[in-house]
Amino acid sequence: MSRRRRIYEGKAKDLFEGPEPGTLVQYFKDDTSHEQKKGVITGKGVLNNRISEYLMTRLGEMGVPTHFVRRLNMREQLVREVEIIPVEVVVRNVAAGSLSKRFGIPEGTQLPRSIIEFYYKSDELGCPMVSEEHITAFGWAGPQDLDDMLSLSLRINDYLSGLFLGTGLKLVDFKVEFGRLWDNDEMRIVLADEISPDNCRLWDIKTNEKLDKDRFRQDLGKVEEAYQEVARRLGILPEGGPGDVKAPKLMQ
Ligand SMILES: Nc1ncnc2c1ncn2[C@@H]1O[C@H](COP(=O)(O)OP(=O)(O)OP(=O)(O)O)[C@@H](O)[C@H]1O
Ligand SMILES: [Mg+2]
Repeated sequence: MSRRRRIYEGKAKDLFEGPEPGTLVQYFKDDTSHEQKKGVITGKGVLNNRISEYLMTRLGEMGVPTHFVRRLNMREQLVREVEIIPVEVVVRNVAAGSLSKRFGIPEGTQLPRSIIEFYYKSDELGCPMVSEEHITAFGWAGPQDLDDMLSLSLRINDYLSGLFLGTGLKLVDFKVEFGRLWDNDEMRIVLADEISPDNCRLWDIKTNEKLDKDRFRQDLGKVEEAYQEVARRLGILPEGGPGDVKAPKLMQ
């Protein structure tokens, strides 16, 4: 770790210079936050590293380009360095969170169709919601980039909804980030950052139990257990319960 130069310290991950030019190492931390509230979810970094590896690999196999190269160890993965587009794309299938609040739609209401929202990635401004007009007018992304981000987000939603459904989880909504990647002179938009219970809402199909970061946001307890349960359902953790997560042997 100390060999590498840290180039970014985020709230949930740190970024280090990668072994080759054009690569980065993403280090997944246990730290978490929601607005002013900060906390630690023991083992989260290890689980999110695994979960994001798994989901990005599956998405890559079905043709969604991603920044993921390979997992290096329990908390680190090698990714392609991209120029992050400062727009968070949120896809919603079921009303929850800020959508429920903003429009007074009870949490859990099935939406008539998947809804896509954009937020400007700026902590200082509190990530305001923006329209396609803002994105193109302010030059954060061009119309073609936006088109790619939209169609990739819908494909990600279709694929992940089915994948999670198969494990008894409802993909309520999720947030993704995209980046620009240059291969020689060609620019491609690729999925970057991470996909994990930090940025997906996942509810048990039968009980509607929340198995994601909302457990931390809403002080529901059993936060660690929720992340472990998602990993277990994806088949990333062996059967055997929460104790397994701390055993490095099983996580390698
Ligand atoms: N392949 C990549 N190349 C460059 N930057 C990346 C890549 N993947 C993710 N990032 C960026 O690395 C950071 C990851 O750290 P983390 O998720 O902890 O950030 P954060 O504290 O949530 O802040 P932010 O609001 O920027 O997401 C994010 O800013 C993300 O946009
Ligand atoms: Mg982030």
